[in-house]
Formats: sequence, C-alpha cells, structure tokens
Amino acid sequence: MGLIALAADKGAPGVTTAATALGAVWPRPVLVAECDPAGGDLVYRLPGEDGRMLDPDRGLLSLGATARRGLHPEQIFAHTQRLVGGLDVLTGLTHAEQATGLAWLWGPLGRAFAALPQADVLADCGRLGGHPQINDLIAEADLVVLFTRASLDHVAHLRERLALLPRGPERGVVVIADPRSYRPSIDEVRRIVTAASDRVAFVGGLAHDPKGAELLRGQWGGRLDRSLLIRTARELAGRLAARVPAAPGTAAPAGAAEPAEPAGPQTARPAADGAAVPRPRPAREGR
Ligand SMILES: Nc1ncnc2c1ncn2[C@@H]1O[C@H](COP(=O)(O)OP(=O)(O)OP(=O)(O)O)[C@@H](O)[C@H]1O
Ligand SMILES: [Mg+2]
Repeated sequence: MGLIALAADKGAPGVTTAATALGAVWPRPVLVAECDPAGGDLVYRLPGEDGRMLDPDRGLLSLGATARRGLHPEQIFAHTQRLVGGLDVLTGLTHAEQATGLAWLWGPLGRAFAALPQADVLADCGRLGGHPQINDLIAEADLVVLFTRASLDHVAHLRERLALLPRGPERGVVVIADPRSYRPSIDEVRRIVTAASDRVAFVGGLAHDPKGAELLRGQWGGRLDRSLLIRTARELAGRLAARVPAAPGTAAPAGAAEPAEPAGPQTARPAADGAAVPRPRPAREGR
C-alpha cells in the first residue's frame, strides 16, 4: 500500500508525536516505522498492548540484522510490536551510532515498505540533513511530509529543505499550529512555501496541543480522543491517506480527492461517543 515519509528540518517540531497520532486514527491498516537515524523514542513513550515496556531489541535493528542478504516485505511484521490501543510499530534504533553500520538498509527498507501489501507505512525519518542516506528511503515514498512550527526561522529552514528532497515523491507540508491562529498560520506557511516551490502538493495543519501531546505518551482513552491533537490528526490522516494508493498498483484518485482544509480545531467535532478509537489491524504474515 502507500509509503508516507514524515520528517523535519531543524528543531523538534513534533514528527514522532504526529506519526503516533496519525497512526492511531489512520483510516486504513497502518504500520508506524521509526526510521529516524538519530534513534527512536516510542519504546520510552508508550507501553505495549500487554501494558509492559516494548522490547527495545525488536524493531529496525533486528530487522536490519536479518536483512543483510535481501529484505522482503513479508519479513517486516516479524519485527513489529503492538502498542496499547492496537497500533503496530517498528521501533527504531536505540542510538545514532547504529545508523553508521546501516547506511545500506534505507533503500531496501523503503522498497519493502512500499511493497507491503497489507498496510500503509508511516515512516518517521526524523530531522533531515545529518544522515543523507535516509534519502534512499524517502525516494521510495509516495509522499514526503515535512513538519514545521509556524515561526519564521522554522519555515525558512523548511523552504531550503524542500529544495533538497529526492525528486520522486509528492511533497506536503504540515504546520504544527497554535489553535488560536490555526488557519492564518497555515495560510501564511502555504504562501511562503508555494512561492518558493511549485512542487508542494499540499499544506495542512496539526494542532499545537501540549496536553494532547502529553496524553499521547500514556494510555489511549476518551480524553485523548477528544484532544485537539487527535481531532486535527483525524482530519489530516484523511487528507494524507487520500493521496496514496490504497492497494498495490492502485493509483491515488485523480486530483487526490483531497477535502478542503478544515476550518480549524475550534470547529472540529469530537468523536460522537468520545470512545477510544479501535485500531485497524493489518493481517500479519506467518501468524
Ligand atoms: N502537536 C504538538 N503540540 C504540542 N507539543 C507537541 C506536539 N508535538 C510534539 N510536541 C512536544 O514537542 C516535543 C518534541 O516532540 P517529538 O518528539 O514528537 O518531536 P520530533 O520532531 O520527533 O523530535 P526529534 O527530532 O527530536 O525526534 C515533545 O515534548 C512533545 O510532547
Ligand atoms: Mg522524533
């Protein structure tokens, strides 16, 4: 199905938080893969479905160790784990030095993710620039989404970064925006990035919501489900999923069937019953 690379330029705008939020509300089966060469965070943030800490030795590193002679999509789910709430994740490296020996992995990993038949993949590629080989994975994606805060310095760096992305994938920008100025912030960033590049296919938003981000480090539940972060993530997930193929060989709908930018988190409706969102569960190979 689809491969969407999520990344940032400078700072820590919230890529990992966004990957988790989007994965939790993604409209199709999905795998969140921590591909940040600087190391993953999910093991330290969220418990597994049994309530215990995730196994830090099972994930990208164990997959890389078995994939030296070739990486096939069906190998991937042998190295994933399930978070509380049901989201499947491939946890990342435990420290940046491990990435040095895995520079060969990113291209084959991108191809395997893109060929995964049973789930879309949201690949958290972290901050770009420090480890150029991650571009080999990004080049395989259907869509690369750069996250930014709305401040001028962040947007200036993002504009430079857009010019350095691999040519293949479609490009999007997501502004982590203050709910009080949600639409104007997104519009301003759209104006700047589209003036600089005619290759940005869309600019969307995600609420800057410290409480929601904090809740996302714990147990999934009704309070989190009603948070601005999750409500805006739901809108964004719908827009992103509409841009990538739903099954191998199926093109995204012409014109990308993209709903208009929502009016903002103030008007977004919480889930009717406020209940926890059950995750779609991809069928796993060999189980
Ligand atoms: N939408 C958000 N609203 C408010 N705070 C957020 C949001 N997203 C992330 N944060 C906070 O910002 C900090 C960094 O978040 P996160 O780890 O997701 O960023 P990142 O871009 O993945 O950083 P890194 O490049 O270090 O991996 C965390 O303290 C997190 O709680
Ligand atoms: Mg991160």
